[in-house]
Amino acid sequence: MRIDIVTIFPEMFRDVFEFGILSRARDRGIVDLSAHDLRKWTTDRHRTTDDSPYGGGPGMVMKIEPLVAAVEELAAKSGIDSSKRRIILLSPRGEPLSQPKIRLLSAAEHVVLVSGRYEGVDERFVVATGAEEISIGDYVLSGGEIPAMVVADALVRLLPGALADPASAQHDSFSDSVLDHPHYTRPALFRGLRVPEVLLSGDHAAVDVWREQRALEDTRARRPELLQSS
Ligand SMILES: C[S@@+](CC[C@H](N)C(=O)[O-])C[C@H]1O[C@@H](n2cnc3c(N)ncnc32)[C@H](O)[C@@H]1O
Repeated sequence: MRIDIVTIFPEMFRDVFEFGILSRARDRGIVDLSAHDLRKWTTDRHRTTDDSPYGGGPGMVMKIEPLVAAVEELAAKSGIDSSKRRIILLSPRGEPLSQPKIRLLSAAEHVVLVSGRYEGVDERFVVATGAEEISIGDYVLSGGEIPAMVVADALVRLLPGALADPASAQHDSFSDSVLDHPHYTRPALFRGLRVPEVLLSGDHAAVDVWREQRALEDTRARRPELLQSS
C-alpha cells in the first residue's frame, strides 16, 4: 500500500514513521509512507496555503488550488488506478472512524490523507477530488496531522506482514464487535494483586474460554452498544 499525507507540517511525521510497526512495515516494503509539504503546490511568492473566509468571521480557510494540485499529482505519480485509491480529508465533520472502516480502507492500494489546519478546508475540495471525510472523534484538534497519523497507524497494522504475529490483530478490540480480553504478564503476584489462576494453569482450552468470557463481560459492562450492533 502507498500512503501519501498532505500537510503544511510534514516534519511532524518524521519520528512517527521511524518507530515500531510503521517503521518495520516500511523497511519490509509493506507500505510506502510519505508526508508532503502542501507549500510545494503553491504558485505565489509567499507560498500561500490559506485565505480569509468568504462571508467574514474568524480564522483562515485552506485554499483549494494547492490541495487539489497535490492530490492530482500524487494520484498521477502513484501509477495506481483510481478505483484502488481512497482520498481522505481529516475533518471533525466526517464519518467517525471505526475498525470496520479501517478494514475497508485497508483494501485500497493508495490512500491520500489530507490534513487541514485553521478553520478547515474550502468545502469544494471534497467535491473536486471525490474525497471522503473522516473524523477521529467528537472533539476538535488544531490540525489534521495527528488524525492522519491515527489513520495511517491503524491501516498499516492490518496490512499482511506488518505485525509479527497476525493473530494479535484478530483478537484486538472491535475486530469482532467485542473488546479485547485483559492481559497480564510476570510477576504473578504484585502487591497482593494476583493474576487469574486459569492463566497460570497451562490449560489452553480453559484459557481460551476465560478470555472469551472476559471479553464479552467487559464489552457488556463498558461498551454494550458494540454487542447490540453486531
Ligand atoms: C481547528 S480544526 C477545524 C475545525 C472546524 N472549524 C470544525 O469545527 O469542524 C483544523 C483541522 O484539524 C483537523 N481536525 C481537528 N479535529 C479533528 C477530528 N476530530 N478528526 C479529524 N480531523 C480533525 C481537520 O483536518 C481540520 O480541518
